[in-house]
Amino acid sequence: MERPRRLRKNPAIRRLVREVTLEPRNLVQPLFVHLGKNPEPIASMPGQYRHSLESLVETAGQAREAGVGGVILFGVLPQEEKDELGHGAYDDEGVVQKATRAIKLHYPDLLVIADTCLCEYTSHGHCGVLIGDEVANDPTLELLGKTAVSQARAGADVVAPSAMMDGQVRAIRQALDQAGFSSTPILSYAVKYASAFYGPFRDAADSAPAFGDRSSYQMDPAAGVWDALREAALDDAEGADMLMVKPALAYLDLVRLLKERFAKPIAAYLVSGEYSMIKAAAERGWLDERRVVLEALTGIRRAGAQFILTYHALEAARWLTEG
Ligand code: PBG
Repeated sequence: MERPRRLRKNPAIRRLVREVTLEPRNLVQPLFVHLGKNPEPIASMPGQYRHSLESLVETAGQAREAGVGGVILFGVLPQEEKDELGHGAYDDEGVVQKATRAIKLHYPDLLVIADTCLCEYTSHGHCGVLIGDEVANDPTLELLGKTAVSQARAGADVVAPSAMMDGQVRAIRQALDQAGFSSTPILSYAVKYASAFYGPFRDAADSAPAFGDRSSYQMDPAAGVWDALREAALDDAEGADMLMVKPALAYLDLVRLLKERFAKPIAAYLVSGEYSMIKAAAERGWLDERRVVLEALTGIRRAGAQFILTYHALEAARWLTEG
């Protein structure tokens, strides 16, 4: 009789046959930063903060100590400093630029990824500039290119375009190359859905669109596999160095698909809503947080992700090393 249980009989045999690994270096910690004096806790994301520059550097140091693969930075601006064209995104004295320099000053070997988008800096909260009520694709490309260059100039190791404008990877690649940053890699949010799971992030970054939603540029969850393949193939051809799927848990089929189709590292983003669901259930004693998080991360690795952006990165890295 076939008895799969033979290979589960005791820890020694399970350890021998276990194939999926999860290490701190597979985890990237997203961090929010503002120019206020103090860190502000984010209500909908227990354990996460809008960091001050000081608390950001401290947390980045802890992440480095825990062995994470890197951090990804998101800037938070007060409403009165935002404008129609999202100038804060490509300002060399902008919040992400300052934050990048501060981290690099203290921890030059910690990998810093900059999220390249306008939505945290536009008064209307959309990821591109508006012409009337439309998010205009081509005029946005130049601004995304400027943003990436400014981030690279500040010391970002990787730029990660998340605006979902057509042609953004090519535009950013050209802008980086022209500015002398031909060795700065692009982590493309290639397969990014219009997802309700981003709810807590928009609260954290104060970046909810003032009107409408992002369905005219982010992907339709029901569109089908063709749309994911098309987006990934375009970003691959435009010169993305790494391809990301976002969110993670409802889209693991696409993580696997990209892993099989593209000879590039695949990333997945376990987004804010996925984090908050687990935190909320754990706070009520309904779930064992540590086990659930490690199980979810293991599943994403098994699906084919080389690394995972997760708000649990620092905690999970500690769990993994402390055993
Ligand atoms: C910026 C951006 C968003 C997220 C990452 N980059 C927000 C959005 O697209 O609305 C979401 C991350 C998360 O929910 O954790 N465009």
